[in-house]
Amino acid sequence: MTLQCKPMLAAALAVALAAGTAAPQAHAAAVDARATLALAKASGCLACHAIDKPRVGPSYAAIARRFRGRADALQVLQRAILEGHSGTWGIVPMPAYGGSQDILSAAQARDLARWVLSLGG
Ligand code: HEC
Repeated sequence: MTLQCKPMLAAALAVALAAGTAAPQAHAAAVDARATLALAKASGCLACHAIDKPRVGPSYAAIARRFRGRADALQVLQRAILEGHSGTWGIVPMPAYGGSQDILSAAQARDLARWVLSLGG
């Protein structure tokens, strides 16, 4: 019995996981959501940010909602990622990833900004 159930459970889990990772992709026409999520993970972004709840920093969904409809949203968020930012969400600063830190390129920061903006739901 258990021997038969286990693979079924694994299959159900795989389907659920696939659905979970595919969902943000549907909103992210302009950016490869899977690759950008991997970049965010590798860059340590998710130590301070979650998609849908605040941690040290605001949730990415809240950022997307706040900047929705602003023509300069992509530029502002790209700059925040490259240069760091403080004061919009609280007193904790967002660290810089560009400039002398040289962790992310401008193009990577733009991809991340575009990805964040796609997560508003
Ligand atoms: C050490 C914790 C920390 C890490 C790591 C971090 N952030 Fe942040 N982030 C913050 C905080 C805190 C804020 C809010 C800053 C403010 O109030 O302006 C923020 C704000 C932001 C904003 C919104 C900026 C704005 O103008 O409102 C974006 C976009 C963002 N982070 C993306 C990223 C990305 C992408 C990464 C990884 C490359 C990252 N963050 C890594 C803490 C962090």
